Amino acid sequence: MSGQLANRVGIVTGATGGMGRVIARRLAAEGCSVVAADTSEDGVAELLAACEGLAGAAVFELCDVSSSRDVRRIVARAVKEFGRLDCAVNAAAIEFEQVPLAECDDDDFQRMMAVNSTGVFLCMKHELRAMIDARNGGSIVNIASTNSYRPQADQPAYTASKHAVLGLTKSAAIDYARHHIRVNAITPGAIDTPMLRNAVERRGRDAAEVAARLSRFRRFGNPEEIAEAALWLCSDASSFTTGHALAVDGGMLAG
Ligand SMILES: NC(=O)c1ccc[n+]([C@@H]2O[C@H](COP(=O)([O-])OP(=O)(O)OC[C@H]3O[C@@H](n4cnc5c(N)ncnc54)[C@H](O)[C@@H]3O)[C@@H](O)[C@H]2O)c1
Repeated sequence: MSGQLANRVGIVTGATGGMGRVIARRLAAEGCSVVAADTSEDGVAELLAACEGLAGAAVFELCDVSSSRDVRRIVARAVKEFGRLDCAVNAAAIEFEQVPLAECDDDDFQRMMAVNSTGVFLCMKHELRAMIDARNGGSIVNIASTNSYRPQADQPAYTASKHAVLGLTKSAAIDYARHHIRVNAITPGAIDTPMLRNAVERRGRDAAEVAARLSRFRRFGNPEEIAEAALWLCSDASSFTTGHALAVDGGMLAG
């Protein structure tokens, strides 16, 4: 640990999920005080215990990212408890569909957009406001997907929602550079988390076959590999990078 985020304050959404919990711990290990937020409290005690003794602190807040009030509350907690906001990783999302567009349920579509796209919009909005108020710059990382470019079959709403994440990322990157706030995305490939495992099971697929098809390394990525990318984008090591979508996908989008 080299203290790359010493004395920084961050938010991680989706923080009890497969990627979010590893990202929250990685940021805390580098000295960041983290507000970890999720609708699910599963494994919160383990997450907070894992962060104890690290260079940074971690606290947990229940938060539905599709609720403006909830999102305002987590940003306010970061500012109240730790003094300001320097970085955020917006990872919360849902994925549950396996039908083409003409069969997509209206409510399912709305729900997917509300969490995956509006959720990122609301998080960015309130995170940006806090960063602007602090006049100290900042870095926002949105977790998009390889679906942001290349859809998998039978995922119309998820695909649309993840395209929107890239649009929000690029739009904010150009608008807030003048405040020294950088906004980037990560487009993960198939990463070994509950979301992926559930999708593989729901579709009755063989995990090894899916891994071989979706990654040049013929394996799933692991959340630690996403956390390293998130750390780099949050840290000053990426100080000239904004509006970028970093593929961490085992070469999936390469050809
Ligand atoms: N796992 C993959 O293969 C993969 C690939 C590409 C992109 N992604 C993206 O990576 C991110 C993390 O996904 P993951 O694989 O860790 O999935 P996950 O299901 O393990 O974690 C997602 C977390 O988001 C939380 N969440 C859901 N709805 C929420 C809401 N309304 N408000 C707050 N929290 C909410 C869930 O409770 C869960 O803890 C997501 O944005 C996902 O779309 C995942």
